[in-house]
Amino acid sequence: MTTLLVTGGCGFIGSNYVRWVLDRHPDYRIINVDKLTYAGNPANLKDLDGDERYRFVQADIGDTPRMTDLMRGVDLVAHFAAESHVDRSLAGAGEFIATNVFGTYSLLVAARENGVNRFLHVSTDEVYGPVGPENPSTEDAAFRPTSPYAASKTGGELMASSFFHSYRFPVVITRGANTIGPYQYPEKAIPLFTTNAIEGKPLPLYGDGRQVRDRLYVTDHCAAADLVLHEGEPGRAYNVWAGNDCDNRAAAEAIVDTLGASHDLITPVEDRAGHDQSYYMDGSRLRGMGWRPQYDLESSLRTTVEWYRDNRWWWEPIKSGEYQDYYEKQYGKRLAAAGKQSP
Ligand code: NAD
Ligand code: TYD
Repeated sequence: MTTLLVTGGCGFIGSNYVRWVLDRHPDYRIINVDKLTYAGNPANLKDLDGDERYRFVQADIGDTPRMTDLMRGVDLVAHFAAESHVDRSLAGAGEFIATNVFGTYSLLVAARENGVNRFLHVSTDEVYGPVGPENPSTEDAAFRPTSPYAASKTGGELMASSFFHSYRFPVVITRGANTIGPYQYPEKAIPLFTTNAIEGKPLPLYGDGRQVRDRLYVTDHCAAADLVLHEGEPGRAYNVWAGNDCDNRAAAEAIVDTLGASHDLITPVEDRAGHDQSYYMDGSRLRGMGWRPQYDLESSLRTTVEWYRDNRWWWEPIKSGEYQDYYEKQYGKRLAAAGKQSP
């Protein structure tokens, strides 16, 4: 048996990855370490209850003695845990630094001490900062993060690569594009727009809505992470770029069209501070290893929207909890200024 320790396995991409690995590697067992922040939801993996190959441990990755203990006998690490939302980082970045920088360091120390064979650090295209289509970032491009979230992810990634350079500790890195799919907390644009449209509520579109993001489907991101974990060259980073780029207004229109909802729900509101116009990456390194996205823009968006339409049991409890305070702070004034009351 191979033991894989996944961090952040109760979050969006992490939970999809846990399921992906258990389905494809019958000889693997997984330890999922997750603090269960507001974004961590055990319901994301409730189908694994009773699975002998799966163990959940509630813990903070910044607790180094605990991580060192948990890491005994672990072969591989896939590190997804993070504070992940740009808007929350704009409101205050302390937790982002604690988890994304110090937490990553803590895990690296624990993994190295236990002689882990491979450590996948999951990073983001946002470390490159805003980039246009004419100049897609290769893995050697400079880091120019703009938001506190992106800055903290850059700090964590630099710490991970320092462990390769300083100690030859076998770190591999993915830099994923904007990802969508099932189990994404409905603070991120696509699940927020979709669930609001289902409820007949406004879709708050920042600024002119012409900012562009890739729409990488989550299982494509999982396949890339798994490939890099197993076959990536230690010390190297790999861009994960699907080429499903479209602007936010077009995405909002596709969502309301898929649901048969009204375009009048799409509501331009005050822009995000320091809003990055677009990210573009050169994905040829990963494609050279055989990775291809299985979802194009249309199927990625449609499959995602249909999942939220068909799985209200998952998101309705989230939207009725602490989420409402966050929503009011984030959108109350913006929507009122746009002439729409916040829900
Ligand atoms: P998410 O916010 O949905 O999940 C994060 C998970 O980490 C949650 O379950 C949370 O409880 C857990 N966590 C947070 N702090 C922790 C701590 N201190 N100790 C243990 N667990 C903790 O995030 P996501 O969207 O699934 O992103 C996963 C990773 O992928 C992150 O590293 C993120 O930066 C990266 N990434 C995300 C995207 C995207 O579009 N979502 C794109 C590229 C890269
Ligand atoms: P988001 O899902 O927060 O991801 P990121 O900021 O990491 O790219 O946002 C995706 C895009 O959608 C981004 O350009 C900001 C925009 N957006 C809105 O227009 N309205 C919203 O309410 C949110 C959350 C995001």
